[in-house]
Amino acid sequence: MSSIAGKTAVVTGAARGIGKAICKKLAELKCNIAVVDVLAEDTEKTAAELSELGISAKPYQCDVSDYSAVQELFKKINDDFGKIEIVVNNAGITRDNLIIKMSEEEWDKVIAINLKGVFNCTKAATRPLMKNRWGRIINISSVIGVMGNAGQLNYAASKAGIIGMTKSTAKELAARNITCNAIAPGFIKTAMTDKLPETEKQKLENLIPLKRLGEPEDIANAVGFLASEEASYITGQVLIVDGGMVM
Ligand SMILES: NC(=O)c1ccc[n+]([C@@H]2O[C@H](COP(=O)([O-])OP(=O)(O)OC[C@H]3O[C@@H](n4cnc5c(N)ncnc54)[C@H](O)[C@@H]3O)[C@@H](O)[C@H]2O)c1
Repeated sequence: MSSIAGKTAVVTGAARGIGKAICKKLAELKCNIAVVDVLAEDTEKTAAELSELGISAKPYQCDVSDYSAVQELFKKINDDFGKIEIVVNNAGITRDNLIIKMSEEEWDKVIAINLKGVFNCTKAATRPLMKNRWGRIINISSVIGVMGNAGQLNYAASKAGIIGMTKSTAKELAARNITCNAIAPGFIKTAMTDKLPETEKQKLENLIPLKRLGEPEDIANAVGFLASEEASYITGQVLIVDGGMVM
């Protein structure tokens, strides 16, 4: 297996949950990592843990919805590491409500972080990635963006938007040997799903052919594959990782 050891990866929403598991996977593959999140303390903790794995990891506190802050951030990461080769757009939030009750603020916040955040980071990463003539952009969407969900209209719109952006980015950057794919996780055990009542989790498990909620590592493994040389002929795709829930 050819290796991606020594490549520089930027992971957003990396302080905890799926983002942190992605960082660990990429560290296992010997990538150096820019750990990006809004949570200052957890970001530093995650970067420190990753450094113990024998790679270079640096913490960066940044809100991905802030366009100019993100452009500055990527310049700083490029200066610190000398290059950027892998970008994992993972930062995301939920503000669930039925449409009848959903506020403009709940809509705007989810679109700003989940959708514009991916635009901001992809835009900032494009020049450095083009310079390498090698790159991987991996966007974390959701099965909700594929199938919709009552009470998650804002989240579903943001995650469906990511799929459109993924395919457009893939078409624009393919000539520079940059692939762009999305992963659509099903229900994964993190702080995001901890909010669900136990009865709801039980119901979900019954709907999942593999009869369990996913682990963050299930998503991290898919990221590891899409970042690898073995995935070099795969672009513009949506890989659903959900225990078979959506087929
Ligand atoms: N957990 C699931 O079941 C599930 C399912 C499908 C998709 N996803 C997606 O996976 C991604 C990770 O989710 P998770 O379950 O690990 O959730 P999480 O809440 O544990 O982690 C999300 C991380 O993103 C960070 N973040 C939030 N807003 C940010 C901002 N503006 N700028 C930078 N960082 C920000 C948070 O601080 C947090 O560390 C999200 O995009 C989520 O939508 C999760």
